[in-house]
Amino acid sequence: MIMETMEPSVTTSTAFEILSSKLDNRTARIGIIGLGYVGLPLVLLLSEQKFRVTGFDIDQKKIKVLAEGGSYIVRIPETEIQAAKAGGFTATSDYSLIAEMDAVIICVPTPLNDHHEPDLSYISSTADSIAPHVRAGQLIVLESTTYPGTTNDLLIPILEKNPRGLKAARGERFGTDTFFVAFSPEREDPGNDTVARRDIPKVVGGLNPAATELCRKLYGSIFNRTVPVSTPAAAEMTKLLENIYRCVNIALVNELKLLCLRMGIDIWEVIGAASTKPFGFHAFYPGPGLGGHCIPIDPFYLSWKAKEYDFRTRFIELAGEINLSMPYHVVASTAAALNQQHKTLNGAKVLILGVAYKKDIDDLRESPALTIIELLQKEGAQVSFNDPYFDYVGRGRKYNLEMANTPLENLGHYDAVLIVTDHSNYDYRWIVEQSNLVVDTRNATKGVRSDKIVHC
Ligand SMILES: NC(=O)c1ccc[n+]([C@@H]2O[C@H](COP(=O)([O-])OP(=O)(O)OC[C@H]3O[C@@H](n4cnc5c(N)ncnc54)[C@H](O)[C@@H]3O)[C@@H](O)[C@H]2O)c1
Repeated sequence: MIMETMEPSVTTSTAFEILSSKLDNRTARIGIIGLGYVGLPLVLLLSEQKFRVTGFDIDQKKIKVLAEGGSYIVRIPETEIQAAKAGGFTATSDYSLIAEMDAVIICVPTPLNDHHEPDLSYISSTADSIAPHVRAGQLIVLESTTYPGTTNDLLIPILEKNPRGLKAARGERFGTDTFFVAFSPEREDPGNDTVARRDIPKVVGGLNPAATELCRKLYGSIFNRTVPVSTPAAAEMTKLLENIYRCVNIALVNELKLLCLRMGIDIWEVIGAASTKPFGFHAFYPGPGLGGHCIPIDPFYLSWKAKEYDFRTRFIELAGEINLSMPYHVVASTAAALNQQHKTLNGAKVLILGVAYKKDIDDLRESPALTIIELLQKEGAQVSFNDPYFDYVGRGRKYNLEMANTPLENLGHYDAVLIVTDHSNYDYRWIVEQSNLVVDTRNATKGVRSDKIVHC
């Protein structure tokens, strides 16, 4: 190894300073792996800052759309893709181009498998694809949400199997045979326009101080504030704490909602009143169940890892149990509401309003609507859906619905209209007027008075 014979302080500063100055003067070439909801916005932010960005994805359809200057994410206009292309952005599945990148950011999926265990196959196959092309002095950052230890125990060992024998830089002692590694979690909140992306602080944890510093510099070009932590594991855990905090608090209000329903108290009114407390209270809202790529999944990454330490994460398990039961509660409430009208769920015509996992977005992943539709169908209901963001709901990892969007008309034809996702462009007053029965899981009909509304 060259490293053993060279003066560490000289080589250290050289590798570090070269990348550092390239990041400063925007000549660093940046590779983004995984051009989905996280990776594609990152491409645009870095392109705006005049970096030449190359996107890597295994999905040929995405690469084709981007090559044609198109977009496959509703909130990303084609004009932004075209502006990035004018600045040198290209998308490819050719991993040999990794060798030309100065910094590489990995944004691939981290789902759960059928046994509710972490599926790290996307990270490991990405690492397998990068390893042959890793270059000395490169910065490799993992952004995918995962359990503490993934960067160190999974990513780095695969990257270190590169043909040049390069190692991840550790401690102070590194040189021309090393590359830099860090973890930096994504904090995007799709559909939330109240915080500018630039204003969301970016947590970074490098394997060594130089990696942290380079990572801060990279993200400092697109975020107003970076927050360094001591290790990749601390950064990985930070992301999980944030999501577990949400998951547990949502479970808490979901459970209290069930109690309030029995007690005849409006949980939404209570949360609104509690929210007026200027300290020590943060509002979370009940709903039909958890959705999205993060909150229903990430906590289980930690509970799975905790078992290795002979430790049970009881809050996560309890929150999971309560949140997972919510779609069943919605279906039971719909059946009870129909029963009040002397109808049965079996044979009832039910229109689902909103299938996205949260309002005003085009993301179906883990949406409780999918479970609710399947449960309703199992009970014999004839289910249709309307959602302005989806023409069709096909097949996913866990569902196979093959349903086309139904126009929002003839609402009186349905026995029940079930509001699962409270998209802003629905006119809820009109919906209630036109419907026989409205089951509202989101308090979307707030302010509308009618005996036809059932909150659940
Ligand atoms: N979506 C969010 O709001 C959000 C927020 C915070 C964190 N995250 C985390 O970020 C990560 C990515 O999430 P996402 O929402 O962007 O996922 P996504 O499914 O939208 O995108 C992932 C992309 O990676 C591509 N891909 C898969 N394997 C690949 C490989 N081997 N090489 C190249 N590309 C590959 C897929 O084709 C896809 O385009 C996940 O770990 C997720 O938990 C997501």
